[in-house]
Amino acid sequence: MSIEFPDDFVWGVAASSYQIEGDSAGRGRSIWDSFARWPGKVVSGHSGESACEHVKHYEADVDLISDLGAQAYRLSISWPRLLPSGTGAVNKEGLEFYDRLIDRLLNQNIQPWVTLFHWDLPSDLQRQGGFSNPAMVDWFAQYTEIIADRYGDRVQHWMTLNELACFIGLGLSSGVHAPGLKLPDEEVFVAQHHALMAHGRSVQLLREKCTLPPQIGCAPTGVLGIPSTSRQEDIDAAYNWTFKLDFSADPNFFSYLWTTEPTVLGRYPEGFDDKYGHAMPRGYEDDLSLIKQPLDFLGMNIYNGKTIRAGEDGKPIEVPHALGHGQTAIGWPVTPSCLAWGARHAFRRYGLPIYITENGLAGTDWVSLYGGVHDTPRIDFMAQHLLPLQEAIAEGVDCRGYFHWSLMDNFEWAEGYQKRFGIVYVDFQTQQRIPKDSFWFYRDLINSNGGNL
Ligand code: NOJ
Repeated sequence: MSIEFPDDFVWGVAASSYQIEGDSAGRGRSIWDSFARWPGKVVSGHSGESACEHVKHYEADVDLISDLGAQAYRLSISWPRLLPSGTGAVNKEGLEFYDRLIDRLLNQNIQPWVTLFHWDLPSDLQRQGGFSNPAMVDWFAQYTEIIADRYGDRVQHWMTLNELACFIGLGLSSGVHAPGLKLPDEEVFVAQHHALMAHGRSVQLLREKCTLPPQIGCAPTGVLGIPSTSRQEDIDAAYNWTFKLDFSADPNFFSYLWTTEPTVLGRYPEGFDDKYGHAMPRGYEDDLSLIKQPLDFLGMNIYNGKTIRAGEDGKPIEVPHALGHGQTAIGWPVTPSCLAWGARHAFRRYGLPIYITENGLAGTDWVSLYGGVHDTPRIDFMAQHLLPLQEAIAEGVDCRGYFHWSLMDNFEWAEGYQKRFGIVYVDFQTQQRIPKDSFWFYRDLINSNGGNL
């Protein structure tokens, strides 16, 4: 079969600062540095101290993206690299690093898609309460201004927050991610509110300060429903399951809704005000006008979905995966139509152009006897996910791009270096990079605009 994507479809790869950069060039400490030292929190006590040493190897890494033929690279800026204490003195070396990185990308015709916050919060700000402190809105504003003033003449695509559901839910509620807190639900929602306000203010500043007219979105994640059949009632059930929270069991922090409903529609998910409104800061409803800023696109980080069917009266019912259902090395189920359904549901509800800002899989790849890295499952995963996405686009869903996570193997948060998401293999001892088989497959895919699928 051979299919094609729209001519201007954006093919990209993604990574983030803490996961690849290493701590050279005057980076201050982030909550992930401290968290990684907390025994038992990160597999084998790994940390992002050296990671892929991308600060040292960025030139070669950009050359790899260029060899791949990708038109875009989603990177994040490290807050503690620019502002080692979170606010105040700016680290010149840090500013210059991103100058060089962005310029090199642009020189090779690769558009930088910049995420402002991908979890590496400066430790000094966490000491002052982090997202629980309402001052976060001002801190984030200062950080945004520095970035917009410096890079807003060259960067056009921006994302404010990466995966609110994770840095709030996993970071402040279950304690599985930095800073490792287990706050009561009410306090988690207050911190989340500050994060959303920081997003709103940041969008305003990007629009004010960037001289290249910016395209702004965010990159949320969460659970989404895949209809069990193509019958309309199952489709509606999957849609309703995705966009309605049931607060009876738990607060469902891992949902797109915490980002998309306030930022796009200017309201909290249905049922929230009744259940948690009493615990929110006085007048929180008024903050929604700041939180809801016009966005140019909706980014979606999608890794899998849950199968849903319509029960009695159309009620959504989860259909468990069959025994032995395929899964990736991190234990996530392989559900190839999740990209297509994520894009369909989100476009139906929000009407914004969609970009898949992350999708990929964890492997346990190794270098073979003859030197190559044969990650056949990753090739199959990409093909199986992109085919249904193309169908959704052909039906009229406005999905405009796909960023594979990740450019190269890197620090996978609490999983350390054990799980490899890259299309480029990294030897963490020597920092050698080896393009995996999936790299060449993706290069041909980009080159033929999906024609090799
Ligand atoms: C989500 C995150 O944005 C990214 O940092 C992480 O490595 C991947 N998904 C894989 O878990």
